[in-house]
Amino acid sequence: MPEALLELRNISKSYAARRGRGRTLRAVAGASFTLAAGETLGLVGESGCGKSTLARLALRLIEPDAGPESGIVRVAGQDFTGASTAATRRLRRRVQIVFQDALSSLNPRMSVGVNVAEPMRLQGIGSERERRSAALELLELVGLRPEHAERYPHEFSGGQAQRVAIARALILRPDVIVFDEAVSALDVSIRAQILRLILDLQQRFGLAYLFISHDLGVVKRIADRIAVMYLGHIVELGAAAEVYRTPLHPYTEALLAAIPVPDPRRMRVRQLGVVRGEATSPLEAMAGCPFRSRCPHRMAICDQATPDLLPVLGRHDVACFLHIPFPPERKAA
Ligand SMILES: Nc1ncnc2c1ncn2[C@@H]1O[C@H](COP(=O)(O)OP(=O)(O)O)[C@@H](O)[C@H]1O
Ligand code: SF4
Ligand SMILES: [Mg+2]
Repeated sequence: MPEALLELRNISKSYAARRGRGRTLRAVAGASFTLAAGETLGLVGESGCGKSTLARLALRLIEPDAGPESGIVRVAGQDFTGASTAATRRLRRRVQIVFQDALSSLNPRMSVGVNVAEPMRLQGIGSERERRSAALELLELVGLRPEHAERYPHEFSGGQAQRVAIARALILRPDVIVFDEAVSALDVSIRAQILRLILDLQQRFGLAYLFISHDLGVVKRIADRIAVMYLGHIVELGAAAEVYRTPLHPYTEALLAAIPVPDPRRMRVRQLGVVRGEATSPLEAMAGCPFRSRCPHRMAICDQATPDLLPVLGRHDVACFLHIPFPPERKAA
């Protein structure tokens, strides 16, 4: 197996709940995955399941929960979680992100050329002239023209702004790019163009992608492997073709039954009739399977123990007692 460029091992993140004073919400609950050079891992799940939190953890924009079982983020084999300031700065270059709303992630008072070059300035790389020429090169690479460098973000369409954000993500020559719903807000034809660009850049530079979307249809077109997330847990992880052909987790089955949806932004598994019941709140998801309240296959064990994500077919992992052994201490129960 090639060395992982990005590795998250048992990472959790809790927030103070917005409702319910003194309670915490576990937005990410012990998530683990690896990302190798040149591959695309698609991360899917309904809105609010913790995808963006996981992305922010991978970039160390936020810190994971500390504690006896606190997890670790590694970039190219190096500990990113506990890295010194200098090492953090160096490792930060290697993992970049493109957000859904590129326009709001650009500085409206700076020209697009300056915006694209900004990560170089922040990292103290190159002279102003060098940064400018790097920005022009990148703009061309993403299909924009040199004169675009002089314009301001508000003059750009959604698709163009996304190209600018991609150029900026590339300027430090990263190994990994995280796309957090990066094409979700675009019209179908523009989305296809941006996806083509993203794939083209990957081929060219051997980039590894963590491609996050609530839209399984989009992920299907781009991902080599797929991770399915539900209430902070990764519940299934495997080769994309295999997950689509043989989904193992009842939640994945429900998600797949939902393709195609008329308006993916409004997708809610709850409305599809495949899975009955309300979602368990992450506040109550302490013991038991996080999917149990909606699962048509719920068993007694599902209320007592949380299934771990374990390999069942080669490298196809699932967290469901229909496929993995019950924990030993519960067997007799
Ligand atoms: N800063 C925050 N403070 C409190 N709760 C948050 C914060 N950010 C996200 N959350 C909550 O964490 C959960 C996961 O959110 P998020 O990672 O944005 O999910 P997704 O990207 O899958 O939609 C949601 O319930 C959300 O409301
Ligand atoms: S562990 Fe139980 S409740 Fe959870 S998905 Fe599997 S069968 Fe359903
Ligand atoms: Mg999100």
